[in-house]
Amino acid sequence: MSDPSHALLDGLRRIVGQPHVLTHDDPDADLAAWEQDWRKRSRGQALAVVRPASTDEVAQVVRLCAEMQSATGVSIVPQGGNTSMVVGAVPDASGRQVVLNLQRMNRIESLDAGNLTLTAQAGCVLQNLQEAAARDGFLFPLSLAAEGSCTIGGNLGTNAGGTQVVRYGNTRDLCLGLEVVTAQGEIWNGLGGLRKDNTGYDLRNLFIGSEGTLGIITAAAMKLVPLPAAQLTAWAAVPSMEHAVALLGLAHKTLGAGLTGFEVMGQFALSLVARHMPQSPVPLYETTPWCVLLEVSDHESEEHARSQFERLLEAGMEQGCITDGVVAESIAQARALWQIRENLPIAQAIEGLNIKHDISIPISRIPAFVAATDALLAQALPGIRMVDFGHLGDGNLHYNVQAPEGVDAAAFLRDNEATVNTLVFESVAKFGGSISAEHGIGSLKVDKLPGYKPPVALEMMRAIKRALDPHNLMNPGRVVRI
Ligand code: FAD
Ligand code: MLT
Ligand code: ZN
Repeated sequence: MSDPSHALLDGLRRIVGQPHVLTHDDPDADLAAWEQDWRKRSRGQALAVVRPASTDEVAQVVRLCAEMQSATGVSIVPQGGNTSMVVGAVPDASGRQVVLNLQRMNRIESLDAGNLTLTAQAGCVLQNLQEAAARDGFLFPLSLAAEGSCTIGGNLGTNAGGTQVVRYGNTRDLCLGLEVVTAQGEIWNGLGGLRKDNTGYDLRNLFIGSEGTLGIITAAAMKLVPLPAAQLTAWAAVPSMEHAVALLGLAHKTLGAGLTGFEVMGQFALSLVARHMPQSPVPLYETTPWCVLLEVSDHESEEHARSQFERLLEAGMEQGCITDGVVAESIAQARALWQIRENLPIAQAIEGLNIKHDISIPISRIPAFVAATDALLAQALPGIRMVDFGHLGDGNLHYNVQAPEGVDAAAFLRDNEATVNTLVFESVAKFGGSISAEHGIGSLKVDKLPGYKPPVALEMMRAIKRALDPHNLMNPGRVVRI
């Protein structure tokens, strides 16, 4: 390591304290938790993992890195819970990147019941935020399988979706203010929590979904809603994707704003949960190509929710959209059904390395998209296994590809990932969709984006990046190359 890097590390230790700068100089240090991504697609090597305890420390770290960038070649990778699906939060192999992990900044700062907002530091784990809201009688409605470890800063960085977007929107829709450390190490306090503010460009929304490439989110003011009086969950077998879409239409009509979640799960995807998580029995999947998980929430009463839900399920049966179904009779049963859904990505990871997609398509075109793209993939790569599931209510499918049974998954990905991505993304474009609805661009899609984003839009993105981070200090090589 050259001397400027030593000086940089010394400076970082002075800012955050010796124990909070982890490096490979310590032969006992195991940095895998910060250097390896959740999907095991990439293991980089950091110059250091730095764990600040306050916004001021984040600002000092950024200022020092900016000052020493030309001497050391350092850049910064903001990291929360490291659950990124697109290799967005781990360092590259250069040994020059500082992973700036925000997990020590995990305080709930305040809950303003009158304004229906909760303000938290960026490293606050999503589940802790949900629990803090619930203790005061509120719901924080962002919900996803990684909620036990992902952070609100990471959720904002990726504009995460999850399973309640149908009713409450993405993370962006739930955010009323941010505190940000800029790429120059200045602190912007935009935590006002205002519902209306038309004083020029919307800076908050620029940082949301920017995947750590424009600055570091250090705190956020998030919207709350009162806890509903009742939540009901049902699991339905549906005979085809066309029927799943028809059932969604019926659900909107019958439940109105009460429709909270509408998830679809393919038979093979569910078989992976049955195989790898036998403690989590999967209902109905053996005799149907698709199952749907529906949730209604109701501010009136459980009886009201139940009668609406029963009306929907009866209409679904009458119209042939549902062939069989179960309604959870208790909170425990509802949790067990959601657990199956949330186990899908974990079961898929246990099955082996895979190619993931988080595409969106206009909902009405999803059945035709799936039929056409399944056929193209089956022809190009006989034997591949489709692990399809996702947020049908949002038109967002996890249209995932697993290697053929018995084939070495790493070799399959090496030889075929590019072909699979091209086939899927071309089809997505043909059907008027987006190549990323949830997980973002990260490293995995950065070279694909220019093929699917209009050049004018891409150039505006580059101009924003150049304006806010002219020296490419923040998460370089992710989202957009400049
Ligand atoms: P990280 O993985 O640490 O970072 C993600 C990105 O945000 C990186 O680009 C990083 O640089 C940036 N970032 C992190 N913190 C900050 C910050 N404070 N300021 C600026 N940038 C920052 N995503 C969905 O949208 N919907 C789902 O349903 C969903 N389910 C998931 C289920 C599982 C089992 C897993 C492993 C992941 C899932 N994800 C889902 C993907 C993932 O995006 C989310 O888990 C989450 O939003 C990432 O939060 P994190 O704290 O782990 O962020
Ligand atoms: C989900 O919906 O479970 C996630 O986005 C994770 C995945 O795509 O595997
Ligand atoms: Zn998802």
